[in-house]
Amino acid sequence: MSLTFCNVHLTGQPQRVVYVSGALMKNLKLSGKKSVRLRLGGELFPATLKPIKKSGNHLYLSSGVHKKLKIPQAGGIHLRTLQDGDVQIGPLIGILSDGPTSSAVNPFGSRTGFIKQLLRQGSKQAYIFAFTPKNIHWEDEKVHGYFLNEAGRFVRKTVPLPDVVYNRLPSRRAETSLSINQLRERFIRRKIPFFNWSFFNKSDIYRLLEKDPVANRHVPESIMNPSPEQIKDLLQRHSLIYYKPNNGSLGHGIYRLSYVAKNGYYARYRKGNKNALLRFNSFGSLMRTFQSRHGSALRGYVAQQGIRLIEIDGCPIDFRFHMHKNGKNQWVVVGIGAKKAGKGSVTTHLKNGGSLLTPEQALDRAFGSRGDEVLRYAKSVAISLAESIETHQNHLVGELGFDIGIDKDEKVWMFEANAKPGRSIFKHPSLRNEGKASVEHILEHCLYLSKFRRREG
Ligand SMILES: Nc1ncnc2c1ncn2[C@@H]1O[C@H](COP(=O)(O)OP(=O)(O)O)[C@@H](O)[C@H]1O
Ligand SMILES: [Mg+2]
Repeated sequence: MSLTFCNVHLTGQPQRVVYVSGALMKNLKLSGKKSVRLRLGGELFPATLKPIKKSGNHLYLSSGVHKKLKIPQAGGIHLRTLQDGDVQIGPLIGILSDGPTSSAVNPFGSRTGFIKQLLRQGSKQAYIFAFTPKNIHWEDEKVHGYFLNEAGRFVRKTVPLPDVVYNRLPSRRAETSLSINQLRERFIRRKIPFFNWSFFNKSDIYRLLEKDPVANRHVPESIMNPSPEQIKDLLQRHSLIYYKPNNGSLGHGIYRLSYVAKNGYYARYRKGNKNALLRFNSFGSLMRTFQSRHGSALRGYVAQQGIRLIEIDGCPIDFRFHMHKNGKNQWVVVGIGAKKAGKGSVTTHLKNGGSLLTPEQALDRAFGSRGDEVLRYAKSVAISLAESIETHQNHLVGELGFDIGIDKDEKVWMFEANAKPGRSIFKHPSLRNEGKASVEHILEHCLYLSKFRRREG
């Protein structure tokens, strides 16, 4: 298989002809051939082949060809020779998302900025567009996508089905719907790589890591849908536990429970904009409170050994590790944000009064000169956790956001793996470059999955 970068020119001639410069003819092993089949995404089209004298790698597509293939724009792009001699132009990358309205300016709601960043960066070496589930026309296998023009505005273009899909569907509930399941199955049936498959549940990840004893050392002891007896036992053994919803996010519905001999049971949680603390004399009254507040929703809760996190100024800190797979299909820690909890807060979420630091700042304060070594160790743990999640999953995983805690004994713990990690850590002035690297990694991995990257070995 050969891979080349070339300049595509779109001409107005109606014939079905492609003109190929001498160097490109050679690169694509087309010398002596009279015709070639060109491919863009799911579309294949035969054209007459004519060499032209011009230095460099140039491909001129007459309108009879580029209209049929639906080539979205002229400019630099990759070419790949397939086994049967067909030439694939691309990659054609699709970013799947959705928005609250059908607004032309903000079609992807709060994700629009990030999506534009991907399109801006990606269009230097790929045909890249964003789309919503409604934009796919399965009857003729086309997508009416959102491209970015030179002025940075969205323009709608119809293209064939993409070579790879980066999934950023925003709604956990919508993602479990029949129609989205069908959508994913349709991509898979056409062998179009689709990552990430869906949001994770906390318990799915804990259960999956139980299959890997080494990685599982970094998961606090967890019990899915625990009985009151199991909660009591966990609390007695660890004296601190977290009780949290399986599908939760942003700290909603999370309780931090502690047991202090003689004093009784304490429950800390977030109530509206405030932190609340309740004390119970008996375990039974604690359980009755949960029952009356949450009822059957408690079946979707996990009880988990509480970790005593390192602290700064009396406030616990934990970390967001933003992980990506790169162009060689290897896991990389691309950005780390240290999150310091707001005073009295159960979680470290910025929305709950938390603040963001660089990992160096945080670990320096907590471990002094050992900070570097602790960070290096935590990175290696994060990579092995990512590898383990990927190995024990049936679907493609290309990006992960871990919530990681470190305790005073330098032990590293994973609380949550997010399949669609938020990007707020990259707003920190010291983490902007990591934010750009994150976008770059997504694109590199798209090139890898669509086979527009040389694979080693
Ligand atoms: N077992 C635990 N021990 C200590 N802190 C925890 C534990 N579980 C969660 N936390 C704290 O609560 C935060 C939110 O928990 P997480 O599991 O990430 O839920 P969410 O989906 O709401 O983000 C974590 O970032 C961490 O600060
Ligand atoms: Mg979290």
